[in-house]
Amino acid sequence: MATINVKTRDGTRNQFEGTIGLSLMENIRNSGHEELLAMCGGCLSCATCHIYVESIPAGASLPDLSRDERNFLDGLDFRKPESRLACQIPFSAALNGIEVMIAPEE
Ligand code: FES
Repeated sequence: MATINVKTRDGTRNQFEGTIGLSLMENIRNSGHEELLAMCGGCLSCATCHIYVESIPAGASLPDLSRDERNFLDGLDFRKPESRLACQIPFSAALNGIEVMIAPEE
């Protein structure tokens, strides 16, 4: 079992079991967090899956930003150093306990 911790825009914290092999975006959407719009379905063309990665487990790492992901993030008003597009992060057992926050709507 691997869990994902999500903080919504109103500050509510939710924890749920993630499905390994799906992206963080798919997991967050599947758990009922519809405020993460993910309008393009994960094909890296909308940036509406913007999250802040607040912590990852010790020893785990996230995939590097691709040029396209960086370009999308750079165009967002609410970009922070911990910003990522959730569709670009595959969920794995190594990320058990990851903590993310859904970024404000642009
Ligand atoms: S869902 Fe559109 S960029 Fe992630």
